[in-house]
Amino acid sequence: MEEKRIKEMFKKYSPHKLNEFHHIYPKILLKLIEVKKDNDSICIFEIGNRSYETLNALLAIDKRIVAYGIDIGNDSSLTKVKREKLLADYPNRINLFSDSQGNKDTLTLIARSALDKYGGFDLIIDDGSHKNEHMLSGFDLLSNYMKPEGIYSIEDIECMYGNDIFPEELKEIYREHNCLIPTPDSYHQGLTVKGFIEGMIDVLNRDFLKRVELSKVNNIKIPRRHKETIGHLSILGRDDLISSIQVYTNCLIIYFGYNLSKPNNLGGINPMEKNMIF
Ligand SMILES: C[S@@+](CC[C@H](N)C(=O)[O-])C[C@H]1O[C@@H](n2cnc3c(N)ncnc32)[C@H](O)[C@@H]1O
Repeated sequence: MEEKRIKEMFKKYSPHKLNEFHHIYPKILLKLIEVKKDNDSICIFEIGNRSYETLNALLAIDKRIVAYGIDIGNDSSLTKVKREKLLADYPNRINLFSDSQGNKDTLTLIARSALDKYGGFDLIIDDGSHKNEHMLSGFDLLSNYMKPEGIYSIEDIECMYGNDIFPEELKEIYREHNCLIPTPDSYHQGLTVKGFIEGMIDVLNRDFLKRVELSKVNNIKIPRRHKETIGHLSILGRDDLISSIQVYTNCLIIYFGYNLSKPNNLGGINPMEKNMIF
């Protein structure tokens, strides 16, 4: 599978997504697809699927891709024809839910299904309400259900700044797309996405210093990163399993994969194992 063909599928079914994120999703999908065996499934969850364009592009890219979608408008009569076509085109590969992403029970139901059937999520794309509280409560819950090297994307993170700095024209565009502009008091556990990103810098690095310190009394073995209590190093969900984050213009990509966070000068990915205590 070439990146070019992935881009062609996006261009055909979801050109706006390719236009906005041509530098992100084709590479991510290539990375996910390349390592899979023929019988593996690649489980993707899109939060805020609107009129199914991106789900359609994803399902067309590879027959091993299975998808979940949630949108508050998934039962809308406006998109009924598109929805029925998608369900007919990809039987048994797509599950749609009509609810708010803020409903923890529904997210848990979806996540448990993904875990039972496919071993968890390979990719989550949060393109829903863009409210701080939803972007973070979603991660808080769903990060428990990621595959070991899964990828979690949160789009339109400019919304983390809240209502007060949004230009009026942009508000209009957001309203047209049924997106709410977050209010400044839109927090999850006292965090905005900005606070989460800042906190992740500490989660990824500050405790590494502590582990190096501990290794001095531990026969030069670097202890495994342990989850710290909320509010100390680890701040949200299973952020202890994150290997890196990438902050793009209007998009945050969170890479899971504890093993990948091992530094090269300590042996790289596999050789490092011998220096770790599990
Ligand atoms: C920017 S659009 C998504 C576009 C779509 N991902 C695509 O690629 O074509 C945002 C979507 O989020 C949905 N949405 C807004 N608030 C939501 C919420 N609280 N829960 C779930 N979906 C929500 C809207 O109905 C809208 O369809």
